[in-house]
Amino acid sequence: ESTEIINCKEKILNLSKEISDLLKTTGGLADTLGKKVYVVGGFVRDLLLNRENFDIDFVIEGDGISFAERLNETLSGTLMTHKEFGTASITLANGSVLDIVSARREYYEYPAALPTVEKSSIWNDLFRRDFTINCMAIQINIANFGKLIDFFGGLEDIRNKRIRVLYNLSFIEDPTRIFRAIRFASRLDFEIEEQTKSFIMEAIKDHMLTKVTNDRVREEMAQIFTDKGVSKSIFLMKSFNIFTAIHSDLNITNETITKIDNLWSTIEKFHRFDNKKIDIQLLVIMQLFHSFPLNKLSEAIQKFLNNKQGIVNIQIALKEKEKVYTSLLKDDIDKYTIYSILHNHCLESLIFYYNDCTEYYIKHYIMYYMINLKNIKLKVTGRDLLNLGIQPGPIYKKILDTILKSKVMGEIYDEHDEIEYANKLYNELKEIKDV
Ligand code: CTP
Repeated sequence: ESTEIINCKEKILNLSKEISDLLKTTGGLADTLGKKVYVVGGFVRDLLLNRENFDIDFVIEGDGISFAERLNETLSGTLMTHKEFGTASITLANGSVLDIVSARREYYEYPAALPTVEKSSIWNDLFRRDFTINCMAIQINIANFGKLIDFFGGLEDIRNKRIRVLYNLSFIEDPTRIFRAIRFASRLDFEIEEQTKSFIMEAIKDHMLTKVTNDRVREEMAQIFTDKGVSKSIFLMKSFNIFTAIHSDLNITNETITKIDNLWSTIEKFHRFDNKKIDIQLLVIMQLFHSFPLNKLSEAIQKFLNNKQGIVNIQIALKEKEKVYTSLLKDDIDKYTIYSILHNHCLESLIFYYNDCTEYYIKHYIMYYMINLKNIKLKVTGRDLLNLGIQPGPIYKKILDTILKSKVMGEIYDEHDEIEYANKLYNELKEIKDV
C-alpha cells in the first residue's frame, strides 16, 4: 500500500468559489465535531483530470446522517436521508447533489498475502470501490485541506490512462462494474488494463451478466449510449461478446461501429437546420439494429430500452427503412414526393436514414427536405374555408391537401395565394358537382 503525498489544495482553490467554499465549510464543520471528512470517488478523479463534476461524495468518520443535517443548516438545500443505509443527500439550489456517507467500519477478510492488521475506516471505504481511479479521497479538514489519500495507485493509473480493479473478484461481486469499466474507458479515453480485461472475460464466461437485472442493464446502456465515447464502448462490448450475451442474434459488425461513430457529425449537420433536442439513445439503438431480423426486433430492443414510445419509434424507423430508400431512389422524383415520403417520420428517423445509407441521392434528398420542405406549413385554416362560404365536409381535406401540395411544389407562396387558390379550387369542385 503506497501513499504518495500530493496536495490538491491548489486545484480545489482553483475551482469555482462556490465549490471551494463548500468544501471549506464542510471541513470546518467536521473540525468542530472532531471528525475526519473526505471527498471521494468521481469528484476526486475528475479533479485530477481537470474535468468538471458538480456532484460531490463525502465520507465522514462518524454518523453521516447527523452530519448532513448539521451541514444543511448552513447550506439550506433539500435534505434527504436514507436511514436504512446511514446515508444522506443534499440537493443545492444550483442542482449540485452532495452525498454524505459514513466511513464503513466492517472488518474484511483479505487474501492471505495482505497483512491482517485493522485498517483505517477510510481505507475500508475506498477498498470496497470499483477502479483505482475511483478509489481516492481528499481530506478536507482545515489542517489537512487538500491531502490526497491514494492507497491503491489511482494517481499513477490516471497518469497512465488505465482502468484497473483492486482485486480479482471485483466483477463477480458486482457485474455491473463490467459496464462501468467500458464506460469510463470510453469517456476518459483510457485503456482497460490487461489483467482487468481478463477478469471481465472470465466473469462474462461465467455468465455473470445474467445476474444483472434487465433494469440495471438498461440503465447502464442509457449511460453508455448517450456518451460521446459510445462507439468505443460498443467496440469494447463487442470484443467482450456482450451483445451476443444479451441477445444471440445481435452480431455487431465493424461497419455498424463506424456508422455509430459517424452519428455525432451527422447530428451536428442536422442541428444546423433543426435545433430540437435529439434523443441520441434512440439513434444509437436504431443504428445498432440496422440489419436485425425484423420479426425479432421487438423483444430484442426491450433489452436496451423500456420506453413504449421510444420502442415504437425505433421499430417504425427500421421497418420503413427499405421502403423509404427505394421510394427516394425512383426516377423523376419531385418535391412533393420527397415531402410525402419523409414528413411522417420523427427527426431521429430522418437522422438515422441519412447516417445509415450510403447512396448520395438519398442523403441529398433527406437534407433537401430538412432545409427546404420540412417547415412548410399552411397558413389557411378550416375557418378561412368557412369564411369563403364553403360547406364543411370531406371537401376541406381535399382542398387543404391540394393547397399544401402546391405550396411544397413552390407554385404558391403566402397566405394570400393560399386563400385565392382555395377559392379557385372550391369553384372548380362545385362546377364538377353541378354538371
Ligand atoms: N462505485 C463502485 N461500484 C459501482 C458503482 C459505484 O465502486 N458499481 C463507486 C465508485 O467509487 C464511484 C462511486 O461509487 O466513484 C460513485 O459512483 P457513481 O456516482 O455511479 O460514479 P462516479 O464515479 O461519480 O461517476 P459519474 O461521473 O459517472 O457519476
